[in-house]
This record gives sequence, C-alpha cells and structure tokens, in this order.
Amino acid sequence: MTIKFGIIGTGEIVKNRFMPAISLIDEVQVTALMDVDEKRAKALATEYGISKTYTDPQHICEDKNIDAVYIASPPNAHFSQVRQAAENGKAILCEKPMAPTLLETRAIVDVCEKEDVLLMIALTSRFAQSHIKVKELIQAGYIGEPVLVKIEYFYSITTIDGPSFTINQFRLQKNRGGGALLDIGVHAFDLIHYLLDGEIVEVCAYSSPLTLPVDVDDTSVVIARLASGSIANISIGINLVEGKNGIDLYSPYGAIITEKSFSQEPTGHVKSFVAGKWMEHPIEPIDAYRTEILHFLDAMRDRNVLGPSGNVGEKAMRVCFAAMKSNETGQCVATSDL
Ligand SMILES: NC(=O)c1ccc[n+]([C@@H]2O[C@H](COP(=O)([O-])OP(=O)(O)OC[C@H]3O[C@@H](n4cnc5c(N)ncnc54)[C@H](O)[C@@H]3O)[C@@H](O)[C@H]2O)c1
Repeated sequence: MTIKFGIIGTGEIVKNRFMPAISLIDEVQVTALMDVDEKRAKALATEYGISKTYTDPQHICEDKNIDAVYIASPPNAHFSQVRQAAENGKAILCEKPMAPTLLETRAIVDVCEKEDVLLMIALTSRFAQSHIKVKELIQAGYIGEPVLVKIEYFYSITTIDGPSFTINQFRLQKNRGGGALLDIGVHAFDLIHYLLDGEIVEVCAYSSPLTLPVDVDDTSVVIARLASGSIANISIGINLVEGKNGIDLYSPYGAIITEKSFSQEPTGHVKSFVAGKWMEHPIEPIDAYRTEILHFLDAMRDRNVLGPSGNVGEKAMRVCFAAMKSNETGQCVATSDL
C-alpha cells in the first residue's frame, strides 16, 4: 500500500535533500506541499508533479489523502503544526530542533502521546552510514566502553548562504529556535546518547555570538558528563570554516575516529586504533535522508521500531537548554534541574 505524505515547509532541506530522497522510494507518494510562501510550494510541486499545495497548515493537516506529514518549517512553527497534524491522526516526522523552548518541546511530545500518533524527530546524524558503522563497532565490543568522546562540528552559514546571507533568518534568532546549540548541537548530543546508549546528565558550557551581531550562540563548547560517568567534549560553530566534523571515541583498549561524518553528503570516513594498529572501515555511500525515511516508514508499520522518538528528541533538546543555562549562570547545570 502506498503511504501518502504531506510536507510542511518547502525550504532548502526539502528542496535539496528530502524530496530527492523520498522521490526514489517506491512505497511513498508525496501528495501535497504547504508553505507560507505560496510561490515556493508551487515551484516545488511543479518540479515533482505534485497536484496540491496549501498555504495554511490546518488545511494540509485536514487533507484526508495524507497518512503522514513531514514538518520542515522553522522551529517556532513546529509545536502548533505538530498539534494540528496529531489532532488529525497523522504520523509525524518533525525536523530538529523540536522548538525554541523546553516547554514547547515537551508539549510536542505530550500532544502526540495524547492523540496516540507516531512522532519521530529528524535526528539525521543517527542515520549517517559512518555513525551506523561506529554503532556496529561499539556494539561488537570493538573498543569496550568508550569513556571519552570528542565532537567537532562546524559549518559556515555566511559561506553557504553567499550573497543572500542575512542575520534576519530563524537560525540566527532566539525566539525562532536559532543558534548553534539548537541547530547542530542537538545532533551532536543525540549522537552521543545513541552511540553510548546513555544520557548526558550534566553540562558546563561557553556559548556566545562570537562572529555575528545576533542574540544566539554562533560558537559553543560544551563539556558533558553521562550517567555512566563517561565524559564528552563538544565544539560546535555555525559560522566557522568547516572542521573535522567528526566524532572520536576513546577507551583503554582503542579508539574509533570519524571525519566528515556530520555532513549532508554520504561521505564520512571511519577508522579505528586497536591493539596498536590503525584500520579503515569502509562505508557504503547511502544517503542518510533515505535511511531516515525508510526508518520512519518501518515505524509507521510497526510502532515497536525504535528510533528517535519525541522522548529521545527531548533528551537531546534538554542538553541544549542546560548548556544555555550553564553559559548564562557560569555554573555546571544538571539536565534534570531545568
Ligand atoms: N535534519 C537535518 O540535518 C536538517 C538539515 C537542515 C535543516 N533542518 C531543519 O529543517 C527545518 C527547515 O530548515 P531549512 O534549512 O529548510 O530552512 P529554510 O529557511 O530554507 O526553509 C524554511 C521554509 O519554511 C517556510 N516557512 C516559514 N514559516 C512557515 C510556517 N509557519 N509554516 C510553513 N512553512 C513556513 C519558509 O517559507 C521556507 O520555505 C529547520 O527546523 C531546520 O533546523 C534539518
């Protein structure tokens, strides 16, 4: 049976990643698009032969010809759109960051639980082939339990946007859910939770607008402690030259190291150092968005399929807000204290 999708928000992620990925999956059909900018929705609809477009999220959520919605609008719009979709019984794939506040983040989870609809958060870094390979190596006991994790994840918003760059965009506005912590920190924290099968319980952070005149962090360093006692050091920046963009995991028995694994492209590298030898671990160049969509479809068919649920997403969001509070107060902050 074909699963019918509606998409809310038709910006860069949808145009460049989601539509190219979903249009190659046989069992799915995108039947409607919605954007507050009608021209954008119509242009994409024409490109992919999609017959319906909307400018009101309520109308796409009420569309009976849709089983699932993918919400890829700015984070400040997510809660109301998740609620509208949930109240109409749709399965929901919601983009990160879930919302600009912890209160709205929790409300997203609550409304989906109340309406008993599937909610998955698009924590795409979990679905990168490099990170799937790292998970396999850890699960196989390759280096034992990693006790120290390092992440470096930078991109340059001014370079990517080029001449169209403006600070008047959601990624650089606090009330719309912007800032490096929410934009990419959430991927880093979730990946640590996923790979170590644990949870960050305390953070100490420096987090500032160091390069742009904005009211959110563009550069952050977070030191984190997991419930297991393992520790992590996470450096993120959204207006820096691209860095190693990888994760390193260390134990007394070895190390697993990735490069370019935080990437929109399936191009990462994974290597390990065990028993005095370096080894490369080749990865298949499979698009993470394809893997993410296939996982969501599996979860639609079988709600027992585990993945980045709303509760899993909230845990990573909690770390972001704890880091913000740590930066403001100059104190380490327990995620349970928010
Ligand atoms: N999973 C990932 O790795 C990943 C990567 C990129 C972006 N994202 C997320 O996807 C979302 C969109 O990002 P983007 O880069 O496409 O942004 P974008 O600015 O390119 O596009 C946003 C689109 O939403 C539309 N829009 C604005 N307000 C809206 C509303 N209230 N309802 C519906 N549409 C609205 C805009 O007109 C625009 O077309 C964000 O939450 C972002 O963090 C996730």
